[in-house]
Amino acid sequence: MATSAAGSPVLVVDFGAQYGQLIARRVRDLHVYSEIVPCDITADEVRALNPAAIILSGGPASVYAEDAPSIDPAIFELGIPVLGFCYGQQIMAVTLGGTVGHTEKGEYGPAPLTLADGSPSSLFAGTPCEQTVWMSHRDAVSQVPEGFVVTSSTDVCPVASMECAERRLFATQFHPEVRHTPYGDTLLRNFLFGICGLEPNWTMDSIVEDAVATIKGQVGGDRVILGLSGGVDSSVVAALCAKAIGKQLTCVFVNHGLLRKNEPEEVEEVFTKQFDVDFIHVHAEDRYAALLADVSEPEEKRRIIGTQFWKEFFAVAEELACDGRPVKYLAQGTIYPDIIESGARKTGGKASTIKSHHNLIPFPEGVHFDLIEPLDHFFKDEVRALGTALGLPDHIVHRQPFPGPGLAIRIIGTVTREKLEILKNADAIVREELDAYNEQLKAKIAEQAAYGESDGLVRCSAGGAEVERPVWQYFAVLPDVRSVGVMGDERTYARPIILRAVESSDAMTADWARLPYDVLAKISSRIVAEVPGVNRVAYDITSKPPATIEWE
Ligand code: XMP
Repeated sequence: MATSAAGSPVLVVDFGAQYGQLIARRVRDLHVYSEIVPCDITADEVRALNPAAIILSGGPASVYAEDAPSIDPAIFELGIPVLGFCYGQQIMAVTLGGTVGHTEKGEYGPAPLTLADGSPSSLFAGTPCEQTVWMSHRDAVSQVPEGFVVTSSTDVCPVASMECAERRLFATQFHPEVRHTPYGDTLLRNFLFGICGLEPNWTMDSIVEDAVATIKGQVGGDRVILGLSGGVDSSVVAALCAKAIGKQLTCVFVNHGLLRKNEPEEVEEVFTKQFDVDFIHVHAEDRYAALLADVSEPEEKRRIIGTQFWKEFFAVAEELACDGRPVKYLAQGTIYPDIIESGARKTGGKASTIKSHHNLIPFPEGVHFDLIEPLDHFFKDEVRALGTALGLPDHIVHRQPFPGPGLAIRIIGTVTREKLEILKNADAIVREELDAYNEQLKAKIAEQAAYGESDGLVRCSAGGAEVERPVWQYFAVLPDVRSVGVMGDERTYARPIILRAVESSDAMTADWARLPYDVLAKISSRIVAEVPGVNRVAYDITSKPPATIEWE
């Protein structure tokens, strides 16, 4: 569980909700630490985590379905305040003796809600008697458990919320966590600050303080090596570790030859000139090229690359050995979504493996480290805020994510030097053009902000889109196909480049960027003209889900 967070978290019990992540985010946005736990957590496990409050998420199941997730009833006896949303309300009701039935028609989208007459609910304090909420359900509570009262209803749903204030058990059928419930934020505040008596003290300063104290406590007088990629996550860990343990830290940059054009030079420059840390550049290009020859399966590539990373780090740990003992600790920039999407090392092992994140590949035989992962419960934008609080320069804090396995997972099929060369050159053009586009948009947003009109979007009438916003991540992908073209009256049979550009805030979901046609046109014509071996450019217009941001 979170090692760097404030003492008593708010636990979000995940029943497979579409909005589970969002609940944790909303709570954190109110400066209260929260983390997600699986729904089969026991009351004893909950007690051990000493939570300040519990929120039960929604979920897709019907409470009476055969394999419907349940909850340990003893959790409601712990005296900890509980708030349930949607399935969370229904599971609270049936577990405590109420009933749930099918409503005649489901309720999806905005719904007008009326608060019950009589003694007002503290959950709804400061909100009007008539308000709009976001509903998404078919089943609903038909009879509340003993000791509970109904606090609001809609035309379709007689129990839109219920509570037993004495036991501090509250629940809503609707979703306060989505922005379409205008008073959702007020309800969450009422629960966290009014009902649970929490303080909004999970601030960047307190997070840094906690993380530094935890790292110091964990490491003592030992040495630590840090797997540095130059990206924001590992750079933030470097800054945290440097603050906590100073010269006990050695940053190790393993160059696998799969980085973007000019990137190794840039990383070396930043970490030798701008930071006062010990820095080692390991040239592993040839070893990786040999290991990846003939490998085309994505998970196999990831496994090979991740395993070799451990070996490279361990070789350095042995070189830096003290009294014959290799360095014991390895720090790395694993973040929360990496863990969730890799199959949930620490979230309960429930999620399926979408991709094996390179940091989470098992150690090969003969290699062992104790891991320091101070960001393993943070989302990407929180990591960025942390970087700023630590004084990291903007160009690092706002760097785009770049996968540890590098260009190997953007070259579909086998990786060869020729393909790497093509991809590096095409990718450099994509970055150059979209960096410039982003800069223009940021300047426009700054201009709007000066007139007090900014909401992070640029309103425009031209370009085919109503609004534009800076693109979150962009890169080129080299698929394993060739197509016919014609250049200078000659037939070509060459490779296409796929352009990928997405909007996102935390990489858990993403939408393809609605780039203006003239930007797309310039990227396409430059790539075909300037990169030998490419005769076509295609734009990936798929969101995540159902696709992922990377192609492998
Ligand atoms: P996907 O492709 O899963 O990617 O939608 C989500 C975000 O994570 C980045 N990514 C990785 N980052 N090691 C990393 O450090 C990895 O193995 C890895 N795989 C994907 C990806 O670029 C995107 O921002």
